[in-house]
Amino acid sequence: MVCLGNICRSPLAEGILKSKLPNDSFFVDSAGTANYHVGNPPDKRSIAIAKKYQIDIAHLKGRQFEVSDFDRFDFIYVMDESNYNKVIKLARNTNDTAKVNFIMNEVYKDKNYDVPDPYYGGDDGFENIYNMLNEACENISKKFIQ
Ligand code: 4NP
Repeated sequence: MVCLGNICRSPLAEGILKSKLPNDSFFVDSAGTANYHVGNPPDKRSIAIAKKYQIDIAHLKGRQFEVSDFDRFDFIYVMDESNYNKVIKLARNTNDTAKVNFIMNEVYKDKNYDVPDPYYGGDDGFENIYNMLNEACENISKKFIQ
């Protein structure tokens, strides 16, 4: 799960998807394309919205996306077009590129819709991204488990 800062959208997506998959057979992680928040916990508003739905993300720590992530992961979900462009720039070959997709394409195939950056907005932005990510992660988990 990749966003810009790895403190709002992607740690929430990580927590939601982890809650829907068995953790002994799936490894879910998140990262940011930027290094602004490396080592920091998620934004308080992301922690709060996750907690509202019984998901604990308070212990997560921000990290920056790196080229080796193409080797460590089979699927790389980005939140928006800017994230997509930055991750694709780091791809070394078509195998890397093929792993990258917009997370909302799991709900609206091939539409490349963004999960809006909630950082500068109000709390309702976090409820909105929770609902979007929950729907996408539900579809991802169904695809992998069944
Ligand atoms: P995120 O949100 O990419 O969903 O983690 C942001 C967090 C921090 C900043 C921007 C977006 N920032 O500019 O510090």
